[in-house]
Amino acid sequence: MSDVLICEVGPRDGLQNAKHLMPTAAKKRWISALAAAGLREIEVGSFVPAKLIPAMADTAEVVAHARTLSGVKVVALAPNLKGFERAVAAGAHKITFPVSASRRHSESNVRMSPGQMVEEVRRCAASRDPHGPEIEGAVSTAFGCTMQGEVPEDDVVRIAAALAEFCDCVALADTVGYANPAQVRRVFRRVRDEIGDRLEGAHFHNTRGLGLANALAAWDEGVRAFDSSMAGLGGCPFAPGASGNVITEDLVFMFESMGVRTGIDLEKLLAARATLIDGLPQEPVYGHTPLAGLPKGFRAAA
Ligand code: COA
Ligand code: ZN
Repeated sequence: MSDVLICEVGPRDGLQNAKHLMPTAAKKRWISALAAAGLREIEVGSFVPAKLIPAMADTAEVVAHARTLSGVKVVALAPNLKGFERAVAAGAHKITFPVSASRRHSESNVRMSPGQMVEEVRRCAASRDPHGPEIEGAVSTAFGCTMQGEVPEDDVVRIAAALAEFCDCVALADTVGYANPAQVRRVFRRVRDEIGDRLEGAHFHNTRGLGLANALAAWDEGVRAFDSSMAGLGGCPFAPGASGNVITEDLVFMFESMGVRTGIDLEKLLAARATLIDGLPQEPVYGHTPLAGLPKGFRAAA
C-alpha cells in the first residue's frame, strides 16, 4: 500500500550523465537492490544510439533483467520511433519520451523541434498494438532552459495538451533545475486544468537545491508520481549545466516522515547505495538522509 509512487530514474538519468560506465552486471545488482527496497517503478535505461551515450548500450539486457523482478514496472526512455521499437522489442512496460518545450534544448537533445518531436511520439503511439507498453510524454525544460532561458508557460501547456491526445500519461520535467515552488504550483495547475488526470508525473532536478521544495509544491497540487535518483545522480548531457535529480533517499524520508506511505523500506534503500557505489566507485554521491542517518525513534508511515 502506498500513497505516492516514486520512480527511480538513476539507472537512466543518472548513468547517462556519469563520467564512468557502470558494468552491466553492476547495473543489474543495483536495480535488484532498488526493487528489494520496494521501488515499484524503475527507469532502467534508454534506447538511444550507443555512439551517442555509451552508458546506455546495454539497455535491452538491463530491461530483460528488470522484467524478472516481480512487481516492478520497467520504464525506458526513447527519443524516436527507432528507440520506441527497440524498447518494445526488449519488453519495457512503459516508454517515456522527452519532448522539450524549449526549441533550443529539443534541437540539441533529439535534433527535432518540439512540434516534430510531438509528431514523432504520435507516430509511435499510433504504431503500438493494444497490448503494447504504456506511453508517457514528458515535457522537458518545462520550467526553463539553460540555452533558451525562459520557457513560456503557454508552450508547456500547448505541448502537454498535444501529448495528452495520444499518450497514456504526461509528466512535467525540470530538466535543468530552474523551477521554484510557486512556479511548480502554477504550471501544474494550468496543465491539470487543460488535461486533467492525464497529468501524472513530476521530474525535478536538484541543481539549485530546490528539488524537495518543488516536489512538496507538486504534492500540494495533487501530484502523486515523482521521479528521483538514488544519491542524486543525474543530468542531461545535451543541456549544459544540468545536474542531479532530486535525491530518492531524501524524497522517501520527506514523505515517510510526513506520514505519506511510499511503499519503500528506508533502511533497505540506504543499504542499496552500497550496490551503486560498488558499481560506480568514482562518481560522487549525495544525500542528506544517508549522511545524517534516520532520526532517533523514526517510524515509517503506517
Ligand atoms: N537507437 C539506436 N540507433 C538509432 C536510434 C535509436 N533510438 N535512432 C537513430 N539511430 C541510428 C540510425 O539508425 C542511424 O544509424 P546509421 O548511421 O548506422 O545509419 C544513426 O543513428 C543516425 O540516425 P538519425 O535518425 O539521423 O538520428 P540523429 O543523428 O538525428 O539523432 C536521435 C537523433 C533522436 C537518435 C538522437 O538525438 C538521440 O538519441 N537523442 C537522445 C539523447 C538523450 O538520450 N538525451 C538524454 C535523455 S533526455
Ligand atoms: Zn532528468
